[in-house]
Amino acid sequence: MLKDLIKLNRSYRKFYEAEININTLKELIELAKLSPSPRNLQALKFIISNNKKTNNNIFEQLAWAGYITDWNGPEKGERPSAYIIILGDKNLSDNFERDFIYTASGIVSQSILLGAIEKELGGCIIAAIKKNKIKEILNISDDLEILLVIALGKPKEEIIIERVKNNDIKYWRDENEAHHVPKREIEELIIKIID
Ligand SMILES: Cc1cc2nc3c(=O)[nH]c(=O)nc-3n(C[C@H](O)[C@H](O)[C@H](O)COP(=O)(O)O)c2cc1C
Repeated sequence: MLKDLIKLNRSYRKFYEAEININTLKELIELAKLSPSPRNLQALKFIISNNKKTNNNIFEQLAWAGYITDWNGPEKGERPSAYIIILGDKNLSDNFERDFIYTASGIVSQSILLGAIEKELGGCIIAAIKKNKIKEILNISDDLEILLVIALGKPKEEIIIERVKNNDIKYWRDENEAHHVPKREIEELIIKIID
């Protein structure tokens, strides 16, 4: 069921470092291809990597789990096996705000991550990126803007969904390293019912 996939599709930040085949990554881009696109511009482009050296370089440019202040991201041996960099193509849109290109990057991210979950993989959307460094490392031309990075791997993390209490939305880790994610109840999300 879709709800089960969405429940399983948490932001995973620790992984078994199992290899992810390039064809698997291409299958995930197929899901991005089929996702909705504002004005059907299809202005998103992708860089996929399962290369260890490149992955290490990408990893250094990412910030992980800002609320967990005593943790700087996954240790060696628990890092992502692959990355998908989502880029906006300035040749296809000269105004990313007006053309909802940022929104589109979120939509394809969810498609990609749900596809990953179906393949017993998982990952995390990362927006806290040193974009200039990644641009340099991957030799990305000026007509492409880095929007998001999706880190992927075989999840090695227990994640528990909680209710938001006292309006505190910060995720936390318990003494057993389980990651707790508070979610607001739908009664708080639906502000008006018109039936
Ligand atoms: C657009 C976007 C950007 C995000 N950027 C980061 C990030 O830079 N680093 C990070 O560790 N998590 C990032 N996340 C993951 C969120 O922290 C995560 O979705 C949130 O804590 C809720 O957890 P859940 O995905 O398991 O529901 C991002 C999520 C989204 C949707």
